[in-house]
Amino acid sequence: MELCQFEQAAKETLSKKRYEHTLAVARLSGELAETYGADVTAAKTAGLLHDIAKEIPADEQFTILKESGIINDTSLLLNQNVYHGITAFLTVPKRFSVTDPDVLNAIRYHTTGRRGMSLLEKIVYVADVVSYDRTYKEAKELRERAFYDLDGVLLEAVQFTIKKLVKQRLPIAFDSIDCYNELCERLSAQTK
Ligand SMILES: [Fe+2]
Ligand SMILES: [Fe+2]
Repeated sequence: MELCQFEQAAKETLSKKRYEHTLAVARLSGELAETYGADVTAAKTAGLLHDIAKEIPADEQFTILKESGIINDTSLLLNQNVYHGITAFLTVPKRFSVTDPDVLNAIRYHTTGRRGMSLLEKIVYVADVVSYDRTYKEAKELRERAFYDLDGVLLEAVQFTIKKLVKQRLPIAFDSIDCYNELCERLSAQTK
């Protein structure tokens, strides 16, 4: 399948606002991929499909996740906001002929992050958080920084997500904690 077909699928599947967000994430993913020497088509594909499952009702996603047998972290199932990355990871290969594991993992981990993220996974995670449609105060500055400090922006984003979850008294996925710890270890080693 071609990028324009993924774009069309996103248009048909998602609300207008989420479709526009999807386009913004795909655009930034492509630009970051170009900057960091990653596969631009893979980055755009993951950007176009990262939220493709977000409007599937949570109970339906819960069933898909439960039945998949790939969830060994029960805290994941307590936070509906992270379902759609894993649901897309499970459904995208069936609905579209996407088989590249790096693309599928970039989709899967765009909500939680994880330890040992690939360059493509980081690009899509960061592009989602600082995409062109984001309007929060620091969005523009973080977006610009992402072009020269991908790990730094990734850490900021994971930090922000963890703080928000704590505030809402929602459980934090092990993958997010692992991701946070790894980035802290690496970035503090660099400053020593
Ligand atoms: Fe998402
Ligand atoms: Fe998104």
